[in-house]
Amino acid sequence: MENMKAVRVHNYGGPDVLRFEDAPRPTPSSGELLVKVHAASVNPIDWKVRAGYMKDYIPLPLPFILGWDVSGVVEAVGAGVTKFRKGDEVYARPDVAHHGGYAEYVVVKETETALKPRSIDHVHAATIPVGAVTAWRALFDTAGLKKGQKVLIHGAAGGVGSFAAQLAKWKGAYVIGTASTRNQAFLRELGVDEPIDYEKTRFEDVVHDVDVVLDPIGGETQNRSWTVLKKGGILVSIVVQPSADEAAKHGVRSAFISAQAGSSLLAEIAKVIDSGNIKPIVNTVLPLSEARRAHEMSEKQHARGKIVLKVA
Ligand SMILES: NC(=O)c1ccc[n+]([C@@H]2O[C@H](COP(=O)([O-])OP(=O)(O)OC[C@H]3O[C@@H](n4cnc5c(N)ncnc54)[C@H](OP(=O)(O)O)[C@@H]3O)[C@@H](O)[C@H]2O)c1
Repeated sequence: MENMKAVRVHNYGGPDVLRFEDAPRPTPSSGELLVKVHAASVNPIDWKVRAGYMKDYIPLPLPFILGWDVSGVVEAVGAGVTKFRKGDEVYARPDVAHHGGYAEYVVVKETETALKPRSIDHVHAATIPVGAVTAWRALFDTAGLKKGQKVLIHGAAGGVGSFAAQLAKWKGAYVIGTASTRNQAFLRELGVDEPIDYEKTRFEDVVHDVDVVLDPIGGETQNRSWTVLKKGGILVSIVVQPSADEAAKHGVRSAFISAQAGSSLLAEIAKVIDSGNIKPIVNTVLPLSEARRAHEMSEKQHARGKIVLKVA
């Protein structure tokens, strides 16, 4: 069996449980591709899984490999694969129940892979699947955001928020976004019409009658968001199930989503990226061997755009 370099988790814990080491190179089964990973981006779910917070929902057998945002080149295809061949440049959002892309090679399903946007490199492409797919599913598929509507995007500087702000703008919505003081100018660069500094302003004092709230923060931020919605509006959370009672009390709707990818949405997003309307935001690029440092940064929960591990 051939080996590859990978970052593996042998036991749950802090960033120091991430081990850069040799691991068996996987082989693709029917309907799967073996991808030579060029870049993998870091998402909060990675450190939540590493720490063991998700072990009841995502029972990965130890040792496992994190990383569910990958971009690379097809090395081999399994039986029955029809859409890709060796040498294709692809990006994917592998199922979190399987080994991820903090490795030289990853196996992904054909159905969770698309050709990478042509206009960008692998480092930028690796920032897209989780962030852009989650934003798209929340804003368009769940909330039905339309041109001319008003949307409040919390955490608009983050991995999901930076895509959500740009996608909402691309759709023709009026975009209000929250972030800390240091990210106010960045929100303008993303196209946010009305940036709100949550360190200085209580958003519910200045925001009213929005059609959609996107909540990647939860807690008090979610609780204070009900009053900014117009009657019939919708709060979509990607972190915690909103209270149905609160929604009913305010005459609004609510939803929690756990965003699923899929090759057709990834292909659609690639087209939007290649049209130049949406820019993936790379904050930091680190070698795969520095995954621990990447996790320490992500765990602070004040990312601007994405942290990427460069593999190839
Ligand atoms: N359900 C799903 O399918 C799904 C998918 C992806 C992510 N998620 C979850 O969604 C959450 C966000 O993910 P992410 O990738 O966007 O995280 P991230 O890249 O770490 O970004 C977090 C952002 O939150 C902002 N922030 C922190 N406190 C805030 C506050 N009180 N008000 C407004 N903004 C605040 C930070 O900006 P400042 O530095 O300016 O504070 C930072 O930009 C995570 O918990 C993740 O696990 C869920």
